[in-house]
Amino acid sequence: MMGKVYIVGAGPGDVELLTLKAVRIIKEADVILYDRLVSEDILQLARPDCEIIYVGKEEGKHTPQDSINRMLVELSKVYRRVVRLKGGDPFVFGRGAEEALYLAQKGVEFEVVPGVSSVTGVPTYVGIPLTMRGVSSSFGVVTGHEGEGCYGVRWELSKYVDTLVVVMGVGKRQEIGRKLLELGRDAEEPVAFVERGCTSRQRVVVTSLGRLASDPPPVEPPALLVVGKVVDLINTLGKEVERWRQNPTVVIW
Ligand SMILES: C[S@@+](CC[C@H](N)C(=O)[O-])C[C@H]1O[C@@H](n2cnc3c(N)ncnc32)[C@H](O)[C@@H]1O
Repeated sequence: MMGKVYIVGAGPGDVELLTLKAVRIIKEADVILYDRLVSEDILQLARPDCEIIYVGKEEGKHTPQDSINRMLVELSKVYRRVVRLKGGDPFVFGRGAEEALYLAQKGVEFEVVPGVSSVTGVPTYVGIPLTMRGVSSSFGVVTGHEGEGCYGVRWELSKYVDTLVVVMGVGKRQEIGRKLLELGRDAEEPVAFVERGCTSRQRVVVTSLGRLASDPPPVEPPALLVVGKVVDLINTLGKEVERWRQNPTVVIW
């Protein structure tokens, strides 16, 4: 018997942001391999007899990508429905495409289920629209992590887009701030970090690009960085702005 592997996007955190398709597949799974950014509430949807395996990449508990690929193939020989659950969308900075390619090469049947990416879901959730008539007519997304084997990031992109989103940029935030200023972005431009967006531990830090480059705020990963005038709209569109003002999970730096 050969099973099927479902590479499923789990969205940015809030269980209610899962797609109906993801919920059905998680409930039917025989085994689930999940990443660091998949929340406990989501795993609770699995059957009690479903085998649940953590394969995250955080320090100290790192599962190499090759082992994950091989595990998916091996598990498909044992189980009918193997679910590979990933934060956000599997094909947006999620290595889902590498896993799908490996399965294709090994002749394993697979299906990819899109998820709400943190790239769009997290800013929307806090009241930052990536585009807005008269304010932003374009956005770009880059990774702030240029590790081994990674494609060089084309930071010049930031010259051509109104709003820039940076994933995995916490560690290099000051360097990123400086680079964007060098490329001609305005020091007064507002920027926001959204930590653990769409979860109960969400925290937003708002500052300016100039300040980010000279005196960066403390921020913990996972966080998304949004740069652009649209960030100011959080003051009126943030659905919980009044509550935030009283108990600041929005920090002005
Ligand atoms: C390896 S990438 C995975 C992105 C994922 N595939 C997606 O579509 O959202 C991980 C990065 O995404 C961002 N991220 C993912 N979930 C997040 C969340 N709930 N809040 C803030 N940032 C998040 C962070 O920048 C984090 O370092």
